[in-house]
Amino acid sequence: MGRMKLGVLISGRGSNLQALIHACSDNNDPAEIALVLSNRPDAKGLERAAAAGIATQVIDHKSFDDRDAFDSALSDALSAADVALVCLAGFMRLLQESFVERWHDRVINIHPSLLPAFRGLNVHERVIQSGVRITGCSVHMVRSSVDDGPIIIQAAVPVLPQDTAHDLAARVLKAEHKIYPEAVRLIAQGRIKLHSGRVDFVDSMELGALLINPPLGRN
Ligand code: GAR
Repeated sequence: MGRMKLGVLISGRGSNLQALIHACSDNNDPAEIALVLSNRPDAKGLERAAAAGIATQVIDHKSFDDRDAFDSALSDALSAADVALVCLAGFMRLLQESFVERWHDRVINIHPSLLPAFRGLNVHERVIQSGVRITGCSVHMVRSSVDDGPIIIQAAVPVLPQDTAHDLAARVLKAEHKIYPEAVRLIAQGRIKLHSGRVDFVDSMELGALLINPPLGRN
């Protein structure tokens, strides 16, 4: 069986893209990146993709009259590259329902919180402000409402008393880089299925593969 073709959508730095590039650079990995798409011409992640010899394309949302036309251009580029799974990796545009329907159960996202808590922007500021002791990150299937959809993997990360949003973002990001390639691998190996609106696993797996909880002192 061939490797599952990924389309990675970015808007900026692309450190999660880098984690996916690293995982897919192993020829035994069940997935490969066919295309990196950015809505911003200056996204740093485009350089990372080019350095890895991966095809890139910029589809600038500003050159479209409406969101549907932008989404259609994204869809067409992904289809042309024969993409089977769309990975949002710091992609900061809202995708319309028609896109999510066209790619139903074939779009995943990484978000820097333990969903369904702290959807949206400025997550780490709000986490600190709220006083929760544990936060984390989630990879989930994308639905048309923001940061919503069946959860695939989560990692828990402590919130330390003196943390700034910057400190916390850095700690969470390390966990993001672990769980995103892992979630892609599970999908590419056909090891998950959707059942009653949640993600189930087709085989029995160690819980450690699904819930990553780095102990204090090792992060
Ligand atoms: C990551 O922290 C990702 O979880 C977040 O943007 C950052 C992108 O960083 N995504 C969201 O907030 C989506 N709601 P990166 O460009 O270095 O991967």
